[in-house]
Amino acid sequence: MKVTIVGAGAVGASCAEYIAIKNFASEVVLLDIKEGVAEGKAMDLMQCASLNGFDTRITGSTNDYSKTADSDIVVITSGIPRKPGMTREELIGINAGIVKTVAGSLLEHSPGAIVIVVSNPMDTMTYLVHKITGLPRNRIIGMGGALDSARFKFRLAEALGAPISDVDGMVIGGHSDKGMVPLTRHATRNSVKVSEFLSEERLNQVAEETKVGGATLTKLLGTSAWYAPGAAVSGLVQAIACDQKKLFPCSAMLQGEYGLSDLCIGVPVILGRGGIEEIVNIDLDDAEMAKMQESAAGVSKTNGLLEF
Ligand code: LAC
Repeated sequence: MKVTIVGAGAVGASCAEYIAIKNFASEVVLLDIKEGVAEGKAMDLMQCASLNGFDTRITGSTNDYSKTADSDIVVITSGIPRKPGMTREELIGINAGIVKTVAGSLLEHSPGAIVIVVSNPMDTMTYLVHKITGLPRNRIIGMGGALDSARFKFRLAEALGAPISDVDGMVIGGHSDKGMVPLTRHATRNSVKVSEFLSEERLNQVAEETKVGGATLTKLLGTSAWYAPGAAVSGLVQAIACDQKKLFPCSAMLQGEYGLSDLCIGVPVILGRGGIEEIVNIDLDDAEMAKMQESAAGVSKTNGLLEF
């Protein structure tokens, strides 16, 4: 199993580290345009192998896509991260050009790969990769919902005073401060609905904290987060590589599901060796459906800024 990660910044390197620690991939290639950075991070990570007990071989490359040839899974993290006060949507101008070039180069060398898009604005970058490559929709996956759901579970556990392992919950919709739809009505604490423990007001507060989860970190760190994004990507990679049939909310090209078409947005999907093997339709009430429609309108507006 060969995995390529383009972008050896904090998210890409963190993702490589988690993949290696989980020890399911034979090879990870880190690629970056900055001279020596991918090689350096790969070497640093390889020097963790004996300490952390993994056999995954990590190599780095400065923009030589021939090194990525025949990858099974490719991850695009390249582009600029947001700075405090910025929205993910504001990155579109620079990142669209970068993602276009990167996706083309990757697929030239790994025409059969499954593509995971992380660059922001993620739903629009996922849509862009669909439009420029024409790949079947099962092979292009946007990473956002897995991260947003992890942030939701963190906030829920905090509000409940419960261990995170007791908590389950999901965020669907666009990966943006306004577009996320945390499904508070469906969230549980060991199978009991969280509304048994938390007031509607507290649950709304948890939802709001979740939606600005990335922005809160960007403000604290001066740039966007990397540990949880890296961990979330590694979870998707593992589900595909190990054919786990795991359910994650991911950005998928919709063709009528949830009443939406011709856009990529976060919905629950089953991930296995075929990539998105199924889009799961869950029962949304009127309020949740309205939020999903509003979120989709925001994503479509950003998609409208793309130039092909
Ligand atoms: C975040 C970035 C990865 O939410 O979008 O941290």
